[in-house]
Amino acid sequence: VASMLVDGFGRKHTSLRISVTDRCNLRCTYCMPAVTPKYQAKSLLLTYEEIIRFTRVAVDLGVNDVRVTGGEPLVRADLDRLIAMLARVLDPSRISLTTNGVLLQQQLPRLTEAGLRSVNVSLDALDETSFEQSTRRRGLSMVLDSIQAAVDAGMKVKVNAIAKRDFTESQLAAFGHFANRTKLPVRFIEYMPLDADGNWDADNVLSGSEILRRLSEHFGPLRPLPRRQGAPAVDYKIESGGGTIGIVASVTEPFCQACNRIRLTADGKIRNCLFGNDSGDVRSLLRSGANDQAIADLLKSAVAAKKRGHGSDDLVFVRPSRPMYSIGG
Ligand code: GTP
Ligand code: 5AD
Ligand code: SF4
Repeated sequence: VASMLVDGFGRKHTSLRISVTDRCNLRCTYCMPAVTPKYQAKSLLLTYEEIIRFTRVAVDLGVNDVRVTGGEPLVRADLDRLIAMLARVLDPSRISLTTNGVLLQQQLPRLTEAGLRSVNVSLDALDETSFEQSTRRRGLSMVLDSIQAAVDAGMKVKVNAIAKRDFTESQLAAFGHFANRTKLPVRFIEYMPLDADGNWDADNVLSGSEILRRLSEHFGPLRPLPRRQGAPAVDYKIESGGGTIGIVASVTEPFCQACNRIRLTADGKIRNCLFGNDSGDVRSLLRSGANDQAIADLLKSAVAAKKRGHGSDDLVFVRPSRPMYSIGG
């Protein structure tokens, strides 16, 4: 299908990110507050059937890539059921999951059975003390076991690590060795102002360029690889060890001009940008008996309303009203 979700800047929207819950079993400092927030009532979350109804409409309008996110998606009951339903709406190779990995190993048989073939696992540190400092919980060994189990099950696995000043520096060498050894791409994501505590400051970001400089001091040259269209990460090969390092420079080099994403929040709001506002209430439409055309019109108008960048200027962030866990990564 030719994309019918083109915004005012000519960007075609082919990627849908579906958040299934705002709940999480970790409390990452850059995302969640330390004290458990007031989660949305379950009755306010879209059911899997409602999510599928929306996804079908989106696919009819040209969406060909779906990522399931949270909070932590695997804390929602029977997520494999949603995956199986999605696999009937689009090519299973275009379905992926972004998870913190804690529950992944346990659910892997059901998820692979449902058709899931690709996961991005968040992992900020490779030692337990630092892991706990970042996530405010223990769980490193479970995440590492999950990554190994996913690889063994034949899944495509990528690792996402936050890039935070005075934290990530200490992890770079370990991640470089991890990337060389496992051959799994490790991507560093510049810390964005989406933390629930409102502590973000530009000085807290460890920039992609500094990460590359530090890695090359340790491992020698890193060679840039061709960038996939719409991909948030620029990948590099560590020439000495063969590992792949990705940089998601959302703060220092925003990729808004290539953005192809729309988001559906767990409570059924369309968001045309991480830093936008809710721009369509799918849940109300679905629950008032609207037809597919009305849902399509809502989605098209949300895309049409998309701004060029994060705020008044691409480099100025306007902190959104929702923190990351309630938008989905
Ligand atoms: P693939 O490259 O297809 O694996 O997907 P992805 O990189 O989008 O997936 P993932 O969920 O792992 O995203 C990595 C991180 O990039 C996210 O956790 C976000 O922090 C960041 N990111 C994702 N989408 C956007 C976006 O639209 N804008 C910005 N600024 N950052 C984003
Ligand atoms: N800045 C950058 N990335 C973030 N993530 C969560 N909060 C932030 C933030 N404030 C990332 C996590 C995870 C994904 C779901 O989103 O590291 O990989
Ligand atoms: Fe949970 Fe992901 Fe937020 Fe960490 S970043 S608290 S794992 S939703």
